[in-house]
Amino acid sequence: MIYALGIGPGDPKLLPIKSLEILQRADVISGFETVLNYAKSNLPGTAELISLNYKNQKEKLEEIGTISRSGKICVFCFMGDLNFSGNDFLSNIKTYCDDPDPVKIPGISSAQMAATRASVPFEESIFMTFHKAGDIENDKEFLIHALKLGKSAIIIPRPWDFMPQEICQYLAENEISTDIPVQIYEHMTLENEKHYKTTIGKCTGSYSDMSIIVLQNNL
Ligand SMILES: C[S@@+](CC[C@H](N)C(=O)[O-])C[C@H]1O[C@@H](n2cnc3c(N)ncnc32)[C@H](O)[C@@H]1O
Repeated sequence: MIYALGIGPGDPKLLPIKSLEILQRADVISGFETVLNYAKSNLPGTAELISLNYKNQKEKLEEIGTISRSGKICVFCFMGDLNFSGNDFLSNIKTYCDDPDPVKIPGISSAQMAATRASVPFEESIFMTFHKAGDIENDKEFLIHALKLGKSAIIIPRPWDFMPQEICQYLAENEISTDIPVQIYEHMTLENEKHYKTTIGKCTGSYSDMSIIVLQNNL
């Protein structure tokens, strides 16, 4: 049995009891190293940990697929929630583990945490991720369109070429008001969490790759 499980935004206490129970029953727990580190205090000492990186991903996923078919419980940990910018990893799990239907358990996304921190209701916002490979031009246009319609935006930037500064610069160059308030949250729920408050016109700093940006369009 394979589980795809969102481990939340970082604080180990922000993990549902059901997810904790699944982790405690796991024979194998896998995920990218940063994510496993986040989850560390919730991981039982009994499970075998298989850490992934971009180089070993295919080979390790195939190995875990084989283990799962021998009746073992294998759990893949996703940062935040698997439905927010986790689809590439989920597709790889399905393909290389040869399991078209892993059991999916949601977690609290960084997008939900940012919405909560900024008091931006999801129903008045759009969520976008630029954290992906390939062309992002359509997404950039969609963002402009949404802001012109009066929506707020919760955005995962792309390290390192479309970070908060570049996003704001792009929007300012495309007729979006430079007065729109911008909140940037780094390492939310962790000890080193930081919060920056600025506007589209004044967003010039550089930020961690563990950051998320909220454009509060409707204040
Ligand atoms: C590939 S995306 C995965 C998002 C994840 N599935 C989620 O639901 O939060 C990874 C990016 O999410 C953002 N992120 C995740 N956790 C965060 C946190 N605790 N604080 C700030 N940003 C975070 C960062 O931009 C990070 O580079």
